[in-house]
Amino acid sequence: MRAGGRVAGELAVPGDKSISHRALLLGAIARGSTRARGFLAGEDCLATARALESLGVRLEWPTPTEVIVHGVGPQGLVAPPGPLDLGNAGTAIRLLMGLLAPQRFGCTLRGDASLMRRPMERVAAPLRQMGARIDTCDGRPPVVLHGGAPLRAIDYALPVASAQVKSALLLAALGAEGITRLREPAPSRDHTERMLRAFGAEVEQQGATVSLRGGQSLRGTTLEVPGDFSSAAFFLVAGALAAETPLVLRNVGVNPTRTGLLEILRLMGADIRVQRREAQGAEPSADLEVRRSTLRGIRVPEALVPLAIDEFPVLFIAAAAAEGETEVSGAAELRVKESDRLAAMAAGLGVLGVEHRLKPDGLWLRGQGTWRGGHIDSRGDHRIAMAFAVAALRAREPLEIADVANVATSFPGFEATARAAGLQIERH
Ligand code: S3P
Repeated sequence: MRAGGRVAGELAVPGDKSISHRALLLGAIARGSTRARGFLAGEDCLATARALESLGVRLEWPTPTEVIVHGVGPQGLVAPPGPLDLGNAGTAIRLLMGLLAPQRFGCTLRGDASLMRRPMERVAAPLRQMGARIDTCDGRPPVVLHGGAPLRAIDYALPVASAQVKSALLLAALGAEGITRLREPAPSRDHTERMLRAFGAEVEQQGATVSLRGGQSLRGTTLEVPGDFSSAAFFLVAGALAAETPLVLRNVGVNPTRTGLLEILRLMGADIRVQRREAQGAEPSADLEVRRSTLRGIRVPEALVPLAIDEFPVLFIAAAAAEGETEVSGAAELRVKESDRLAAMAAGLGVLGVEHRLKPDGLWLRGQGTWRGGHIDSRGDHRIAMAFAVAALRAREPLEIADVANVATSFPGFEATARAAGLQIERH
């Protein structure tokens, strides 16, 4: 990355990763076919697609960003020929655990080196309470589902705010007898609940508790996938740092359980305007316009942490450019993402010369106008790589970012989009 630069213009980011995974998974066990437009053809969602094909689901691709899922119904999946490899995709492995727990056949789930280090008991333990027979390897993949055990509903209080855990349990609950009730310690993204309703299921939300009756069947439907707010986030921060004229992001998903970063950046003084688009289905979307702003450091409200959980890498870059101190607490979950994101960001901020302190559940840092360049190890984490690509806008010297192939898991075409916006990327 060359140092400095400006961003401006108009761009669109690829489809939402969370929604794209769910479109495939719910479409697979629905009766009839499901069409998803604006689908994210990134490596993570393609891993889900390949897994479903191994489970006997036929997929058609009218265009690279449109998929038709030929649903096989709740009992129609078949035993795969071998272990399912979910690559880097935490959402895929955890939601598949829930989807497959009520099935008659067994199955093994695994992934790449990063996924093999991630905690799976948070899903396996409550699934066992429902009656499923599951083994993990010291809490991590490979996950072995033995199948063939009838599931019963549970009342369960989630120990962490996690949409992946909630969604896995909702998928299992569809195949369990009775009404499952899940209580969240704080709201997490609600795409599964919205999409279940779009497929004709009844899902009840009362305060922090979501309930679902088992045995409901899903009807195939048509879904519009908006742009991924988590991908737009990199350009929101790029704009706040370096858009002398407005940078406009078209058709971005603005489900309020995802837009915590918008609120945090506004608290920091960012000038971001939201123009809502006409609703196209279960998920709201908007055009976002951002301008260079003078940011000030803040103490990030803990209630916003789960609503911005994937955005912390780039938020730390915004904070590093802000006046004064920023402190994040209550974000220990960042340690078990695709990488330990607190440690990865602390190391990178150190390279930039930004004063910071790593905490068990967060990070403190003092912002400064510009910073040094150097060599950043993204640790194979797509969001760490993209966050430091944005950081180059305020660097005085070039930034070399290593291990960036996994950007394709969530944002295929990032390089071209970023260059068009004004980021100065060079390939070595
Ligand atoms: C996701 C939920 C979040 C998020 C992940 C996608 C989802 O994980 O970090 O990128 O699609 O449900 P947790 O639910 O584990 O926090």
